[in-house]
Amino acid sequence: MPKAIYTEIALPEIVIQANALAVRLGFPLMPEGRPVGHKGPPSACIPQVGKLLQVLASGKPKGRIGEQGTGAGVGTAWLASGLRNDARLISVEINPTLATAVTELFKDYPNVEIKIGDCNEVMSPDQPYDLLFVDAMPRGKLLDPSNWDSLVDLIKIGGQIVMDDLTPVEQWLPEWNDIVDAKREFAFTNHRVAGVEVRTTQTTSALIITRIK
Ligand SMILES: C[S@@+](CC[C@H](N)C(=O)[O-])C[C@H]1O[C@@H](n2cnc3c(N)ncnc32)[C@H](O)[C@@H]1O
Repeated sequence: MPKAIYTEIALPEIVIQANALAVRLGFPLMPEGRPVGHKGPPSACIPQVGKLLQVLASGKPKGRIGEQGTGAGVGTAWLASGLRNDARLISVEINPTLATAVTELFKDYPNVEIKIGDCNEVMSPDQPYDLLFVDAMPRGKLLDPSNWDSLVDLIKIGGQIVMDDLTPVEQWLPEWNDIVDAKREFAFTNHRVAGVEVRTTQTTSALIITRIK
């Protein structure tokens, strides 16, 4: 048998608390990942994505780390668990009920700030990020090619964007074959970034995207 640490993801205490908050708020957790073709409401990031966020955050000592779409604070908690050496985390949520509840969850974390509002208005290229989890359901207008520069300008050169909830192409439903996938277009055809897709479960993947220009 492989050792348990090769397969199990230990949840930090703040992630356990965020999961409990999500249950109280009725915010879906779906820890196995969204099934292929699932059309339900937004859900929290799965532990595999959370671990990825934690590890990337821990590589940004003194960094400025952001999250678009706080939800119930699960992704926020994973990012917070990776903060090093005075790194700061700013998460923006448009739903005031969620934002207020997550602010309370992080009241003893001086390096974590939850802002209420539209991330497209609250986040500014004047204060760019070292790491940004783009998770406010970014498929529509935000990822239109006309908006790519605005999104890229939110991160420093060498900084990274993470997007999750992709379906690996070999698992696509037949009717998807001709679609243009906005997240992959942004990651793989945009000359200002270098992107890679990483498998998070058998049926889900995520993108890590580094700003190069
Ligand atoms: C997928 S959930 C976020 C999950 C969270 N990042 C996590 O990992 O647990 C998407 C969230 O984005 C919020 N949202 C949608 N549009 C937004 C916007 N323009 N600005 C800020 N938040 C937004 C929704 O209210 C929802 O809570």
